[in-house]
Formats: sequence, structure tokens, C-alpha cells
Amino acid sequence: MTCDDGDGFSAVALDHALHPRHYGPAQEYDGHVRITGPCGDTMEFWVSLREDSLERVSFVTDGCGASRACGSMAVTLAGGRRLEEALKLEQADILEALGGVPAESEHCALLAATTLRTACRECLSREAARGKQASATDKLQEEGS
Ligand code: FES
Repeated sequence: MTCDDGDGFSAVALDHALHPRHYGPAQEYDGHVRITGPCGDTMEFWVSLREDSLERVSFVTDGCGASRACGSMAVTLAGGRRLEEALKLEQADILEALGGVPAESEHCALLAATTLRTACRECLSREAARGKQASATDKLQEEGS
């Protein structure tokens, strides 16, 4: 049995595996990360912020159907959420929303959740760096005036 043959997938999970949502890289983003899981598969997430909410989230993976389903559900759950809420999304949330993937593929949801949260944290780091840069520029302008 392979993870792509449909056994052990709920109807929702199978649909996300076959038709992953928001699949593909983003040209503009506030956070991006690529993580390789212990299985050797890679997952990549791009996140864009609008104020403090996730305006756009997309992903790609070179993994099997279960990893596509998990990545797809992760972007579905995260899209539109406040950043602080998205940072709390866990493996169990993805598995519950999918309603069933083969037991041997449940770790795919862990990789999806970890990659999503890491991309969100990168957003925070970039925001903080921009804030520091802005305050340094303000200070320089004050000193120059
Ligand atoms: Fe590697 Fe699912 S088997 S992420």
C-alpha cells in the first residue's frame, strides 16, 4: 500500500490530497521557510501579512498525497487568521480537520504544522527587523535635523 492509494483517507483528506489548496510559491511574501522532515520529504510555506492577519498562505511539497493533504489543510486553517492564532496551529488541528489520514502518514501533519509555524515566526522576525530599521532611520533623521 502506498500513501497515494486512498486507503485510510477520509473524503475530505482525499480531496485535499488530490486538489491541494493554495499550492505553489508566492512572488511576494513576508515569511518563507523550507523544512525537510525526518522522512526526507520537504515542505515549503509562504505567508503574507496584512496588519496582523495572514492574508495569503501557500505551500508546496515533494511528499506524497498525505503531505499534500496536510499542507493543504494547514494553509486552509491558517488563511485569514491572526498571526498569533496561526502560531498555535498544531498537528492535531490539521488531523482533526482532515478527518482521517493513514496512521503511518500522521507525521505529515506534524511537518506541515512545524513548517507553517516557522514561516509565521519568520514573519515576526522580519517585522521586528523592519521596526528596528525604521526606528534607526528615524533616529538618524532626528540627529540630522
Ligand atoms: Fe514525508 Fe509525509 S511521508 S511528509
